Amino acid sequence: MRGALPVALAARAAGVEALILPRENLPRRASSTACACSAPGASRKSRSNLEGKAELPGASVDVARLFAERAKDDVDFAEVKGQAHAKRALEVAAAGGHNILMVGPPGSGKTMLARRLPTTLPKMSLDEALETTKIHSVAGTLPLASLVARRPFRAPHHTISDAGLIGGGSYPRPGEVSLAHGGVLFLDELPEFRKNVLEVLRQRWRTAS
Ligand SMILES: Nc1ncnc2c1ncn2[C@@H]1O[C@H](COP(=O)(O)OP(=O)(O)OP(=O)(O)O)[C@@H](O)[C@H]1O
Ligand SMILES: [Mg+2]
Repeated sequence: MRGALPVALAARAAGVEALILPRENLPRRASSTACACSAPGASRKSRSNLEGKAELPGASVDVARLFAERAKDDVDFAEVKGQAHAKRALEVAAAGGHNILMVGPPGSGKTMLARRLPTTLPKMSLDEALETTKIHSVAGTLPLASLVARRPFRAPHHTISDAGLIGGGSYPRPGEVSLAHGGVLFLDELPEFRKNVLEVLRQRWRTAS
């Protein structure tokens, strides 16, 4: 089920005490204690549960633990050798939430530096993680029962459409801009992007800031 987490959070805020969810929507460890029914048996089992005839096994999800487990970064800004100017510029951009344009010869480390930018940002708070997870959950980009606990780093390919970047489409979905919420949106090989895609990004940026 797509978007289970936002549904669960909204339900809790509305005072709902329990949700019946597909087993796949629970984190792996919780699923062993959770409802073990397969899809054909599931509706029968949940009906008898609602009628009070049978109990569904309960499962609780320890969001704080899930968060702590996933909050570790796999790359580090400290791995960059030298490049004092580029690092300083990235730090300024990170501190002020600015855009940054990197220009340099092939192999000088632009992509490598950009990938490490999210690791210089403060760790995500649980609330921020849940907020970003909601977006990813709605977009269906997450494996089920996952939590975005690290600042996202999104690097879409330059062939991306404007709907892919900004969101929308005939079946509306969040775009890369939204998926990068709380993290970094990296446009590698910027001049290769289609002009209209960069234009919508510029217009969106102006209205947002
Ligand atoms: N200052 C550095 N410290 C550590 N490793 C570096 C540094 N500069 C370059 N490298 C290494 O060189 C590799 C190539 O760098 P990278 O791919 O980021 O270059 P680029 O500037 O994006 O090049 P291109 O313009 O071809 O995309 C990196 O994977 C990294 O291993
Ligand atoms: Mg590169």
